[in-house]
Amino acid sequence: MKIAILGASGACGKHLVELAARKGHEVTAVARVSSKLDVPPGVRVDRGDLTSFEFLRGVVRGQHAVLSGLGLRLAGLAPWNRPEDPTFLTRSTHALIEAMKAEAVKRVVVISAGGVGDSFEQMPGFFRAMIKLTALKHSYAQLHDMEQQLLASGLDVCVARPTGLTDGPLTGKVVVAKGFKGRATIARADVAQWMLDQLELPAFVEKTPMITVTGAA
Ligand SMILES: NC(=O)c1ccc[n+]([C@@H]2O[C@H](COP(=O)([O-])OP(=O)(O)OC[C@H]3O[C@@H](n4cnc5c(N)ncnc54)[C@H](OP(=O)(O)O)[C@@H]3O)[C@@H](O)[C@H]2O)c1
Repeated sequence: MKIAILGASGACGKHLVELAARKGHEVTAVARVSSKLDVPPGVRVDRGDLTSFEFLRGVVRGQHAVLSGLGLRLAGLAPWNRPEDPTFLTRSTHALIEAMKAEAVKRVVVISAGGVGDSFEQMPGFFRAMIKLTALKHSYAQLHDMEQQLLASGLDVCVARPTGLTDGPLTGKVVVAKGFKGRATIARADVAQWMLDQLELPAFVEKTPMITVTGAA
């Protein structure tokens, strides 16, 4: 399969690139010009403005699917921390949807977060407070906007909502959670593998699954 991976320099994006290449997919790793990017042999690299329709149109041309690990870069969770580009996901999602429609590319899997949109009420109380009171509020507002745009786009969309991300090893034990008990975490490698696995389905069954390895009730 020909797959474009946006945010290939990110912590999840790196796993997406590595696992997709290992599975034999034809991978294009996409990142901004300033990104630090180290890709396995055989992976194509495309650098440019991730909010540009023209750039993204060229990126998605001829691809079977798009995977995205894009997110906002935050300096820390203190309430005074501001994202370097507060509306990045709004603009990049809009450009991506238009580019995919223009090139008739239908399938896209992105990473949102547990607690975004209608999953907010399922989160433990302390985490709901963190979403409201810390710098997470900027990311969550942007992830919510990204979700809304994608779900209204008419594309074949899967918005993965992982729980707390870790850099632990791949376990292959991802479950879709409906509720929680204890600490809910998932390794970035597991998020990436789960996203790739969704491409094997003829159409995405779950549109906004909350995925985790630990803590599912
Ligand atoms: N941390 C958690 O526990 C947790 C839990 C659930 C969900 N999430 C969400 O999961 C997603 C992925 O997490 P992660 O740890 O893999 O994120 P990450 O390492 O911060 O990666 C973010 C990616 O987005 C790119 N990006 C950010 N701003 C950009 C811009 N203005 N232009 C172009 N590219 C830009 C980064 O590129 P550069 O390398 O160039 O900066 C990087 O490739 C994030 O949306 C995060 O909010 C996190």
